[in-house]
Amino acid sequence: MMSSVARGSGLAPYLQAVVVQASARPVVASFPAAVQRPYVDPAASTSPPAARVLSAGHLGTSVSRSLNGRSQVRFAHTDLKVPDFSPYRHDSVQDGSKSSQPSEANRKVFSYVIAAGGAATATYAAKNMVVGALSYLGPSADVLAQGQLEVKLGDIPEGKNVTFKWRDKPLFIRHRTAAEINTEKAVDPSTLRDPEHDDERTKKPEWLVVLGICTHLGCVPVAGAGEFGGYYCPCHGSHYDASGRIRKGPAPLNLEIPEYNFPDDETLLVG
Ligand code: FES
Repeated sequence: MMSSVARGSGLAPYLQAVVVQASARPVVASFPAAVQRPYVDPAASTSPPAARVLSAGHLGTSVSRSLNGRSQVRFAHTDLKVPDFSPYRHDSVQDGSKSSQPSEANRKVFSYVIAAGGAATATYAAKNMVVGALSYLGPSADVLAQGQLEVKLGDIPEGKNVTFKWRDKPLFIRHRTAAEINTEKAVDPSTLRDPEHDDERTKKPEWLVVLGICTHLGCVPVAGAGEFGGYYCPCHGSHYDASGRIRKGPAPLNLEIPEYNFPDDETLLVG
């Protein structure tokens, strides 16, 4: 047997006639008897020499011009039946002799509706996933409930200050008298260390809601004491007025106002 094998496109131009003589054993051992060999006219074929020789029945000998050249034999399977897709086609395009353009918009509506429905469903699912993840990371309902304080305003008489515990901090709720309101409203904010008008510090003039933490170093002031009738911090002598504004002493800022609202006339909700 004589054979020559080379690979690589760099050698391809120099491989002009590689002959494989398979005298000892054929390249293709045998065809099943029932297989009918396709006939390809060697003269008319445009296939490369190897294909021509193989298709002509010389199974023991193959010739090719190049290892990189085409060597397969292609068959036209004209005996395959094309399935009938008519039941799956729109009525408007059943007739192959008519243009499908006039019915294009109507046929696309279904696809658009399906796409829009899918997009809406995906968006809703994504939104639910995000909300679920965020609610899982956030505080639970019982923790949130602990973070709110509900106060019945009718329990606090006029002129009194009541101290509550809210989120582990002291909270002052003061039911101010008309005299206190008038006094605090008359104060010129420009004369204050931390300028704020009384209207900015209350949602209802008769109710003052502030954290009971001195803005100096965090002591708890005493209600109804001090030179201004509001709060007094005995730690270093800070005086706050009945609006919780710093009026004298080392504290730099007014008492902090928490988030609160009045769900109704009788209730105060803090947090
Ligand atoms: S902590 Fe209140 S005056 Fe210093």
